Amino acid sequence: MKRNIKKYFREYKWSHILAMIRNGFSAPATYDGTFSGKLVVITGATSGIGYVTARKYAAKGANLLCINRNPERSEKLKAEIEHEFGVRCDFLIADLSKLEEVLRVSGELQGWPDPFDVFIHNAGVYLTKRELTGEGFEKTFMVHYLASFVMNFLLINKLKAEGCCRIILVGSEGHRFAVWGLQLDDLHWERRRYSGLKSYGSAKTAQMLSMLIFDDHFSGTGVTINSMHPGAVKTDTGQENGRVYRWFKKHLFDKTLKSPDVSAEALYYLGAAPELDGVSGKFFNLTTPEIPAPPTLDRAVAEKLWEITLEMAGLHSDDKEGVSESNIHQLQKA
Ligand SMILES: NC(=O)c1ccc[n+]([C@@H]2O[C@H](COP(=O)([O-])OP(=O)(O)OC[C@H]3O[C@@H](n4cnc5c(N)ncnc54)[C@H](OP(=O)(O)O)[C@@H]3O)[C@@H](O)[C@H]2O)c1
Repeated sequence: MKRNIKKYFREYKWSHILAMIRNGFSAPATYDGTFSGKLVVITGATSGIGYVTARKYAAKGANLLCINRNPERSEKLKAEIEHEFGVRCDFLIADLSKLEEVLRVSGELQGWPDPFDVFIHNAGVYLTKRELTGEGFEKTFMVHYLASFVMNFLLINKLKAEGCCRIILVGSEGHRFAVWGLQLDDLHWERRRYSGLKSYGSAKTAQMLSMLIFDDHFSGTGVTINSMHPGAVKTDTGQENGRVYRWFKKHLFDKTLKSPDVSAEALYYLGAAPELDGVSGKFFNLTTPEIPAPPTLDRAVAEKLWEITLEMAGLHSDDKEGVSESNIHQLQKA
């Protein structure tokens, strides 16, 4: 850890921190055009930012393909959106804390007949206590990072062939909690004292590091990938935590937070506005381009993390150009 402090200390700049604060107060850019006939994939559309964003795109004429974990909420969302906006709202069910389900849903996405115009990786959790999944992954890392990595990786071929997708990672200014970067030899918090904020920051940092490498893969193909902070907004996040956390969230934090409508406006702008054509590999505070914390820009770590992640997920570098459905079945059986 000492090495990392040395490594990044000089790269932190007060001007970047001040820019972040300023950007948090500036009104986000908006886009008023329609998005009729386009297809938007979004994870975690049953609540919070995902829900209002799904409604925003549907109101602009886009069809939706939602990836949710809860079948009843998904049916309700589908009925509501199709009735209210007259667009198609399909959904696939997957618990993104389970690698097996992420692999399965990736196969379903690979075979989806229509091109993806926007893919918003939004699903997320905030956990004050460390949780290990049945497959041995720290849950925050799995849901925020590994799930989005595996889906993006397994869709490289489809997205390149279609050449039109804007991938948006719903990141967070919270990536800054991983002040000294990722600890690559302890990604699942086995050797360190777990901290909800640091684990959240690490997972978002990992996602932003993967963006650097995905951006290389998609360069010149018409596919773009960006990360964004959706604002500090009032949602259902953190509901799985204990009573004390929920009390503070309800009576303290929530009172300072904005409506998630601002996030939906920003996510619509980033997905649909023509001026974002070809813009890739950037971090936005809502819609303002911003320089993120130094550990998210560390290419050497990004490359190492890429290799570690492939191994962790049972994928291989040769699969870079895509994995066939039969490969996915083999991976699921392994
Ligand atoms: N709220 C903020 O101020 C804020 C700030 C910065 C970044 N963010 C980011 O914004 C994103 C959305 O968060 P939110 O605030 O809107 O939270 P939220 O209201 O709790 O919504 C989270 C969504 O993710 C889904 N989800 C959670 N775990 C999942 C799993 N294992 N498999 C599949 N889906 C799962 C939830 O499904 P259910 O409906 O089934 O629970 C829900 O649809 C997250 O990535 C978060 O880190 C939020």
